[in-house]
Amino acid sequence: MKSQIVVFLFLSAAQCFGQINCTILTSQGGKVPVQNDNFFKALTAANTCPQNIDSLNAVLDRQFVNRKFIVANRGRNNPRMGSFSFFESFAARNRNADADIFLGHFTHLANVSGKAVIDLDQGMKKGQLIIELIAWDHAKGYYNFYELIGQGTFNQWFYRGDSKDIILDNQNLYLSQPPQFGKRLRCSGCHISGGPIMKELTYPHNDWWTKARPLIFENAQSESFLKRIQVVDSAEIFSAQVRSGMQKLEASPRFQMVKKSLSIQAQLRPLFCDLEINIQSDVLPMDKATQIQVPIASLGGPFTGRAPIVISKGSYQALVRKYGLQFPETKYHDADHAWLTPVKGHSDLLAIASLKAIGLVDDKTILDIHFAAQIGTLMNKERCQLLKLVPNTQSWLPGFVQNLKAQSSILAKSLLQRMTNSMLTPSVYQKSIDDWYIQTSQKLSAGDLEPAFKQLLLNRRSVFESDISKNPMGQILEPGFRVIFPVKRL
Ligand code: HEC
Repeated sequence: MKSQIVVFLFLSAAQCFGQINCTILTSQGGKVPVQNDNFFKALTAANTCPQNIDSLNAVLDRQFVNRKFIVANRGRNNPRMGSFSFFESFAARNRNADADIFLGHFTHLANVSGKAVIDLDQGMKKGQLIIELIAWDHAKGYYNFYELIGQGTFNQWFYRGDSKDIILDNQNLYLSQPPQFGKRLRCSGCHISGGPIMKELTYPHNDWWTKARPLIFENAQSESFLKRIQVVDSAEIFSAQVRSGMQKLEASPRFQMVKKSLSIQAQLRPLFCDLEINIQSDVLPMDKATQIQVPIASLGGPFTGRAPIVISKGSYQALVRKYGLQFPETKYHDADHAWLTPVKGHSDLLAIASLKAIGLVDDKTILDIHFAAQIGTLMNKERCQLLKLVPNTQSWLPGFVQNLKAQSSILAKSLLQRMTNSMLTPSVYQKSIDDWYIQTSQKLSAGDLEPAFKQLLLNRRSVFESDISKNPMGQILEPGFRVIFPVKRL
C-alpha cells in the first residue's frame, strides 16, 4: 500500500516535469493499450516525454528521416497575421516516399518586447492543440490518430482512435437526413476517408512553400521558427508522401475489410458523392502568368484526363472584377494562382479504383454514374441522392436499375438510359469526351468564359454547403482557420 502511494507521488511529479516515460491516454482518460506504430514505440521507449515539437523531433529524428513543410493558413498573400501550419513527415531511412508518421503544428504572432514575432505555437495553455499526428499501425494495417494537448502546467498525449473509427464515424454520411456523424474522434470531420489529406495536393500547391515559390513573411521571426524555415522542403515532396500514404491505406487488406463491413451503399458512396476534395489551380502564379491554364478537372471532373485549357488572363480578370471577388482580410481580388478550384478528392478516386478491383463496379458503370450529372459539377446532390436506391447486395446493379425506373428526375432518367444502353461503352465515352474537350477549348479560348467561371464559383460554394461540411467536429476547408478562396464583396 505504502509503496503504491510513493509510486503515485513519483508518477504525478514526474509527469508534470516530463521526466519519465510517456503515458498516452485515450479520450476517456484511460491508458491506451499498446499500439503497433512507430510513434507509439518511440514515445513509450523515450526516457523523457516530448512536451513540444522540438523535443519530439529529438526523439523521432534519431530513427527517421524528417522533412518539414509549411503552408500559409490565411493565403500566401496574407502573411501579416503570422498564421502558418508546419507539417512534417518521418520515413524509414531507405524508404523516402513512404512516410510512417505525419504530424502538424502551428504558428502564431508572439509579443516580444512589444514587437510582433512569428513563433511556433507550442505553449501549455489548457486545452491548446500543440501537435496532431498520424502514424501507420503495422498490425492494424491502417493509421492511428494522436494529439498533444496543453494541460496548463504540462502537455498530455492522447490516442484519439484509428482509420476504422473514422470510417465508422462517417458511415452514415450522405445516407441520412439530417446528416448523422459518429463522435469517436474529431479527426473524422476532415480526414473523412481515414487517411492523410493535403488539400492542395497537385502542383503548384497554391498556398504552400515550394522551391519555385517560397512563402513571404511580413513580421520578424523567432529563432525556432527561422531554424525550421532554413530546412523547409518543397511541397511536392509532401504531396508525394501524402499520395503514397493514401495509396498504402487503400491497398491495405485490413482497411478493405473494414470498408467491406459497411453497407453496399456506403461502399459505393465515393462514386455517387464526393467525400473529400482537393484543390487545383493555374500552374503559374498570377503575377508571372501571361495566360491562364484552367485545370481540366475543374471543367470536366475527374475522368476527362486532358491538358488544361488556356484562356486569356484579361478576360479572366474581368470576370473576377465583375463578380466582385475579394479576400476578406486583404485587398487582393484573387488567390496567388488563378482559377483556384475544388475538385473531387484523390482518395475518392483511389476508393473507386478499389471498387473496380473487387468487382463491385466496372468502367462503364463508373462513367454512366459520373456523367449522368451535368459535367463539371462538384458535390452534385441529385446524383448523390440516387445512392439511396442501391440495394444492399453484392450484385446491386439489376435492383438499382429497377429502382431507377420509378424515378422522375432528369438525372435519374439520364442514368437509366445510360445504364440500359449497351452501345454506350467506355470507348464511346472517350470519343464524346474528345468532342466535349475540343468544343470547350474553342468556346473558352474565344472568350466565352462566363458559364465556366460561374460553375467555378458554384463548386466552391458547394463544398461549404455539402454534408461533409456539416460535421460539428470539423470541415475540410477549415473556415475561420484557413482562408482559401476570395468571396463576393459585400
Ligand atoms: C477541421 C478539419 C481537420 C480536423 C478536425 C483534423 N484535421 Fe488534420 N488536417 C486537416 C487538413 C485540411 C490537413 C492538410 C493541410 C491542408 O491541406 O491545409 C490536415 C493534415 C493533417 C496531418 C498531416 C498529414 C496530412 O493529412 O496532410 C496530420 C498528421 C493531421 N492532419 C492529423 C490530425 C489529427 C490527429 C486529427 C484529430 C486529432 C486531425 N488532424 C483533425 C484538417 C483537419
